[in-house]
Amino acid sequence: METSPELGPVERLLLAEAPDDARSVLVIDGSPALLERCAERWPHATVYRDRCDVGPSIELTPETLAGVDLVLLVLPPSLGGLADYVERVAAWCNPGVRVVCAGRNKHMTPRQNDVLARHFTQVHASRGVGKCRALHASHPVDPPLPRRGPQALVEPSTGLELVAHGSTFAGARLDAGTRLLLSTASDWRAGDAVDVGSGNGVLAAVLARQGRTVTAVDVSRAAVASTAETLRRNGLDGRVTVLLADGIDSLPDRSAGLVVTNPPFHVGAAKDSTATLQLIQQSHRVLRDGGELWCVYNTHLPYLEAARRAFGRARIVVQDRGFIVLCASR
Ligand SMILES: C[S@@+](CC[C@H](N)C(=O)[O-])C[C@H]1O[C@@H](n2cnc3c(N)ncnc32)[C@H](O)[C@@H]1O
Repeated sequence: METSPELGPVERLLLAEAPDDARSVLVIDGSPALLERCAERWPHATVYRDRCDVGPSIELTPETLAGVDLVLLVLPPSLGGLADYVERVAAWCNPGVRVVCAGRNKHMTPRQNDVLARHFTQVHASRGVGKCRALHASHPVDPPLPRRGPQALVEPSTGLELVAHGSTFAGARLDAGTRLLLSTASDWRAGDAVDVGSGNGVLAAVLARQGRTVTAVDVSRAAVASTAETLRRNGLDGRVTVLLADGIDSLPDRSAGLVVTNPPFHVGAAKDSTATLQLIQQSHRVLRDGGELWCVYNTHLPYLEAARRAFGRARIVVQDRGFIVLCASR
């Protein structure tokens, strides 16, 4: 007999704090197990997920949100991500909508209440259970606030305008690790390239500006939208294919000359290097003979050994107090 998947403590709290009398429930960034429980408890339940590898997702539009009277939201890692969800929920759901958000205390800040209070006239925190706490919001402001749109900044060292939707990594700024990786850009092998985990699109844009054909991949819908918009605003979209995908499994063997990446080190709020260890192996498969993997990572992570296992040899090209850039040749 199949057993129901287990819920984590944040999702258990969401269910415990949710009212029973809703008709149409939207779950944001929840697990398949949470959606299963919601479908058992309420007549109509749908899910939006930023990550495409967790399961299917609806789009967040005025049409899909119309009629939704309860939203269960696993708090995203950034305030920008929370604002991006909340402004759409407040503007497009049923005016009687109630929102229940939950997260772990260590990831929560009073500024999350402020984001909710910009869009809802009633906001309060619950007492919490264990190491988790919930926030409740209702009575959307009327008329709704206009959508802010993505963050956009001109990044001085590259001159690129970077765009960030939702919780995109580093927002519209240049991450310190990415900056170190970019310091090696003149040494990257010529030819077509793949940027894995493209985020705000800065690496894909630099690769495209070098005259290459580029494939940019990210698992996050917000990141894919950010990459595409960064490329469009810098006139580089004609050179780049942007894919919403979990890693580079879908790319053929020996199909690329270069893989450049500042790889993921989180899954949600939890640190996890599994995806990057897989990515190093996938890069070896996807690169042609002579192709190169260039990867930046935090100095304590075991990626040099992983690259040596996959490629036979790999070297550190540059290192600072926080980051290492490695290059591995096939
Ligand atoms: C450290 S960020 C780097 C973002 C951007 N390249 C930069 O340098 O600012 C890693 C990116 O990998 C993405 N990511 C995480 N897991 C992934 C996966 N399994 N497949 C593809 N992308 C993934 C994240 O959404 C995030 O945008």
